[in-house]
Amino acid sequence: MTDTSKDRVVIFDTTLRDGEQSPGATMTHDEKLEIAAMLDDMGVDIIEAGFPIASEGDFRAVSEIAKNSTNATICGLARANPKDIDRCWEAVKHAKSPRIHTFIGTSPLHRAIPDLTQDDMAERIHETVTHARNLCDNVQWSPMDATRTEWDYLARVVEIAIKAGATTINIPDTVGYTAPVESAELIQRLIAEVPGADEIVFATHCHNDLGMATANALAAVAGGARQIECTINGLGERAGNTALEEVVMALKVRGDIMPYYTEVDSRKIMNISRRVATVSGFPVQYNKAIVGKNAFAHESGIHQDGMLKNAETFEIMRPEDVGLTETNIVLGKHSGRAALRAKLKDLGYDLAENQLNDMFVRFKDLADRKKEVYDEDLIALMRAGEDEA
Ligand code: KIV
Ligand code: ZN
Repeated sequence: MTDTSKDRVVIFDTTLRDGEQSPGATMTHDEKLEIAAMLDDMGVDIIEAGFPIASEGDFRAVSEIAKNSTNATICGLARANPKDIDRCWEAVKHAKSPRIHTFIGTSPLHRAIPDLTQDDMAERIHETVTHARNLCDNVQWSPMDATRTEWDYLARVVEIAIKAGATTINIPDTVGYTAPVESAELIQRLIAEVPGADEIVFATHCHNDLGMATANALAAVAGGARQIECTINGLGERAGNTALEEVVMALKVRGDIMPYYTEVDSRKIMNISRRVATVSGFPVQYNKAIVGKNAFAHESGIHQDGMLKNAETFEIMRPEDVGLTETNIVLGKHSGRAALRAKLKDLGYDLAENQLNDMFVRFKDLADRKKEVYDEDLIALMRAGEDEA
């Protein structure tokens, strides 16, 4: 249930654009359509479906996603030139709610690539945002590498983009360079000091090069951003982007100190995470927050005992809330008697204390030789014990 005492944070998913830019993560046309449908169904507000000028295939995928989506706004990416923007519009215009996202690198390093002066770039921003706005009511503009752009210049170009009609200003931490305190302050300062900033939405787009993408995104929200750009499983260039599942669950679990909510149905997280891992060919690391194989698994005796008595002892969210049916009690060499007893009971063996003691010795002996002891192993141990008796 939506808590209206909290501020809404819009979720902008860029799995199909930034995520797919990850070397080796290319998805087929049908896979992209399937992931877009899942994102649409789980309540993601905006889907960045691709970069239409990049290839004929990207153009077709974005157009078809735009035609098929029922709830989400469909966005395409375009560089700061009319040709890119026109192509982007051609692809997204079929959507019930289309958005053009145009960007240019504003930091000194990025300005040096097209060799533009600050004034020339400012002029280009004015022209291209105006061009996009003449095509579409919903225009997002990004100063790429914003977090390494000089403050004065950043404030100046953000103001120009707002005046030219941008409705969302995204502040990318393109190389994952910022830190939470700085991320919050930057958004706060832009909102406070740039004329017109209070009339548009600020977004945060963080990369994970220093492992701070989720923390930086949430800090930006504390600073006033109301759109988080993210990807499923944190897929994305280099070390990836802010992970959708992490921000959604962080806001859900710690709403007491972060009074914001999203409209994403978190129970659909696990399904889409597995599907994105499969189609992108990027497996999820076992200890990945929220969606890793071990995120709801317990092997050590102390943890298992606590879990069997009260799940909240070692879990801060319910597995059902991310789409899992139950916590995974893994039996291994660190497991204790309580977990073994519970597992055997599940398998239909209700053992007396002396039988359990005997079984525990044999279980530990096996666990020392094997990483994980599965149900079949326990059944085999039980049968061997029965044969000996
Ligand atoms: O990381 C980045 O700066 C981007 C922009 C295109 C928004 O992905
Ligand atoms: Zn990015």
